[in-house]
Amino acid sequence: MAKRASGMAHIIVVGNEKGGAGKSTVSMHVATALARMGHKVSALDLDLRQRTFGRYSDNRQSFLKESGLDLPSPRCHELPEVNAADLQPGENVYDHRLSAAVAELEPNNDFILIDCPGSHTRLSQVAHSLADTLITPLNDSFIDFDLLAHIDASGDKITGPSVYSEMVWSARQLRAQAGLPPIDWVVVRNRMGAQRMVNKDKMERAIKNLSKRIGFRIAPGFNERVIFRELFPRGLTLLDLKDIGVKQLNISNIAARQELRDLIKALKLPGVDPDF
Ligand SMILES: Nc1ncnc2c1ncn2[C@@H]1O[C@H](COP(=O)(O)OP(=O)(O)O)[C@@H](O)[C@H]1O
Ligand SMILES: [Mg+2]
Repeated sequence: MAKRASGMAHIIVVGNEKGGAGKSTVSMHVATALARMGHKVSALDLDLRQRTFGRYSDNRQSFLKESGLDLPSPRCHELPEVNAADLQPGENVYDHRLSAAVAELEPNNDFILIDCPGSHTRLSQVAHSLADTLITPLNDSFIDFDLLAHIDASGDKITGPSVYSEMVWSARQLRAQAGLPPIDWVVVRNRMGAQRMVNKDKMERAIKNLSKRIGFRIAPGFNERVIFRELFPRGLTLLDLKDIGVKQLNISNIAARQELRDLIKALKLPGVDPDF
């Protein structure tokens, strides 16, 4: 697949200040799905401490090597080290490392996927301002919702934005000032189905309500499925199962694979066939 028309990679950032929302799982699945479609995909893991995405990628490379398989994969890159002497006066070292990595990858990739840590860091903040598409996985819980917006006791009235959406708002401001196109912000519900229906409906109403207030789209999400926890040691995604010799996918895995396809479609990424 040729590089996109503009010659520059489309940047997908996967972020949410909450740990355990599914960022690294979604990152690996989206990046691998795009690679499998023939796009050139590089990835950066900004969780420098936990490195879940980096470890997921390493596991994939080891598994493929051991099993003699050659499956399309995103390429995970480390942030380059930088000498203090190379920094401009007052320049932040993390800003420099991230910009250097992106500048190097942009001309040679269709997509750069950036997996963010589950906390507010300088790196994550800068990454958000680079996002052409921002994917925010969100667990179906009002505790997780609280990082996007505060709501009243009934769960029906939004009383104000919260830390994470304020951070996205300032990233949007920065981009507007720099003359960059707006961020396409997509919230993806994750691990659905584990709780009572009444909570699910309440959550759905709250997210819909908020999407209009703070400007994001809602993509169909993932149900709670055990397969997501089993794939990591081999670095696999739902789309790879057939290629490693799994003859018959069970119903839950087929449904999960469809959820992933629906997500890719909903992302409306440039140059991506929605019906892959
Ligand atoms: N849809 C899902 N169903 C079941 N387990 C999931 C699902 N999504 C994520 N998980 C599990 O939840 C945990 C947190 O996911 P992870 O992707 O590491 O989140 P984050 O990167 O946001 O911290 C992991 O153990 C992962 O396997
Ligand atoms: Mg993670």
